[in-house]
Amino acid sequence: MLLEVKNLRVQFDTLMGLSSPVDGISFSLEKGETLGIVGESGCGKSMSASAILRLVPPPGRIVDGEVLLDGTDLLKASAANMRQVRGHYMSMVLQDPVASLNPVFPIGNQVAEAVTVSQRLRRRSLKEKVIELLQRVRIPSAENRIYEYPHQMSGGMRQRVAGAISFASNDLKVLIADEPTTALDVTVQAQYLDLLKELQADVGFGLIFISHDIGAVAELCDKVSVMYAGKIVETGPTRTIINHPRHPYTKALLDCLPRLNEVKRLEPIGGEPPNPFAFPPGCRFAPRCPRATELCHTQYPDFVQIDENHDAACWYANES
Ligand SMILES: Nc1ncnc2c1ncn2[C@@H]1O[C@H](COP(=O)(O)OP(=O)(O)OP(=O)(O)O)[C@@H](O)[C@H]1O
Ligand SMILES: [Mg+2]
Repeated sequence: MLLEVKNLRVQFDTLMGLSSPVDGISFSLEKGETLGIVGESGCGKSMSASAILRLVPPPGRIVDGEVLLDGTDLLKASAANMRQVRGHYMSMVLQDPVASLNPVFPIGNQVAEAVTVSQRLRRRSLKEKVIELLQRVRIPSAENRIYEYPHQMSGGMRQRVAGAISFASNDLKVLIADEPTTALDVTVQAQYLDLLKELQADVGFGLIFISHDIGAVAELCDKVSVMYAGKIVETGPTRTIINHPRHPYTKALLDCLPRLNEVKRLEPIGGEPPNPFAFPPGCRFAPRCPRATELCHTQYPDFVQIDENHDAACWYANES
């Protein structure tokens, strides 16, 4: 297995008390595979990504779990080893690519800096490598554009530059794309998803694709994990999750989507996600769940295995 995350838990100790925005999540990813992570805003998707790369901002801490990359636990690695891992093997494309670029340097310099982390190259070969990376993310006339500053480029092109920075390593194994398309318009989004797919086919990295956009997830992902209030509540093959969800939260999320050939008023999920400083004792979705019983309000449900690759944390997951 390329990447195995086991029982990963992040804790914040703040003035308001203790909270666990990532509360014991587990999943695995094979080479060339794409895992989607979906869920409402604030459920812990980005924090999970940061935890996998050991970039949780203070006062947050990883308090439990394992992150096994090719069998080695990154949570036990030294800081120096971890920098190597981030430079060579695991990389993240950020939610806001514009914010991740430095406005005062030409984009060529910024891509070059990312290359230098993993490879020592003479200036001429470095420049060639930078151009090659920009071409790889389909930036037209890359050789002229290395001197441009971020503000001279369109949103879509900046997104590609941010992509080139994440793909700078020759031996990228895992790429985490966190909401890579929210800042872009629809056509540019579609192109970017195509690009991700092509690059994955070329390089063969495992991709973790974090998104609100179930349409994009359906197009890109082999399997999906649904997060709610710091926990994964359902995981399964993408088709199964979309067509036969078993967790009431997954069902509610899908009910919010417009369906083709169906005129239906979109219903947002009633109620709000729980306050992370005071999660309810039982199932965290119970206060909003139409199916909830006394049991749901008092005891957190274990995962019920529905199929070989499909499980859901619901007391009633076996009801259809
Ligand atoms: N510095 C912090 N101190 C305490 N809690 C924090 C801190 N930063 C983030 N959190 C909490 O972590 C939780 C998860 O946040 P995260 O950014 O992972 O959500 P998300 O699922 O990525 O949401 P979105 O879809 O909006 O990007 C949130 O409830 C947030 O309040
Ligand atoms: Mg986020």
